[in-house]
Amino acid sequence: MADLNVLRNKIKAKTDALWILQKNRVKKFFRQFYADQHQLTSVTSADRYPELFEEAKKALKGLPSDEIKLLSFGCSTGEECFSLRKYFPQGFIVGADINKSNLKKASDKNTDPWIKFILSNDANLAAEGKYHAIFCLSVLCRWEDTKDVENCEAIYPFEKFEKTVSSLTNLLAPNGILVIYNSNFRFEDSEISSQFEIVSTPSVKNSGFVHKFDASNRKVHQQHKHCIYRKVTKVASAYAS
Ligand SMILES: C[S@@+](CC[C@H](N)C(=O)[O-])C[C@H]1O[C@@H](n2cnc3c(N)ncnc32)[C@H](O)[C@@H]1O
Repeated sequence: MADLNVLRNKIKAKTDALWILQKNRVKKFFRQFYADQHQLTSVTSADRYPELFEEAKKALKGLPSDEIKLLSFGCSTGEECFSLRKYFPQGFIVGADINKSNLKKASDKNTDPWIKFILSNDANLAAEGKYHAIFCLSVLCRWEDTKDVENCEAIYPFEKFEKTVSSLTNLLAPNGILVIYNSNFRFEDSEISSQFEIVSTPSVKNSGFVHKFDASNRKVHQQHKHCIYRKVTKVASAYAS
């Protein structure tokens, strides 16, 4: 009887391993069709990051409220934009997503003339002008695909993250902020981060639960704290040599 159990367990271990292998092959095959896409799922909810939204509001204090322009990059079905309106009662909010069906749901729900949903591509994003804040929340990652790996290169490489944060930087107004939460990488590891300063966010204890990787795609085991970065715009000095 004991022998039979050992055999049964061995067969089960083998079939489990084969199943995981097959599942990963299928996932890898489909990934090639989502080359422009970051996070694949569309999970969202109303007021999902209240502390972060409060900190972003604080970071933009001083700007005339009716002139504020915000971008929710990866807005899914719109809840993020509708929630942002609570923190920024005035101003223009743009929601961009790569998924057309999400955008349709978002637009169908929208009754705010100062919230607009657009398909995310370079031309459309740039056409809306410069933003005072760009929110990339639960977008710059592949979760849970990267949950159990020590190296994420084959799933979501650093260069993809870096390319996107660098193009988003070009869309920021002078002294604008980039808000990155639940990403697979630390913004500080990107080259473009040298143009930014970290904004202190005392009420937000870390940059999210999504596992972090370094610029070589290796898992980072330390906690990462920062999630708001301000683009530092140097004023040209009349006395500069
Ligand atoms: C998990 S949802 C996050 C929604 C919302 N930001 C939140 O945190 O509740 C990720 C969204 O990012 C979108 N997304 C993925 N790649 C994108 C890209 N390249 N441009 C714009 N949106 C993208 C997906 O379609 C999906 O709607």
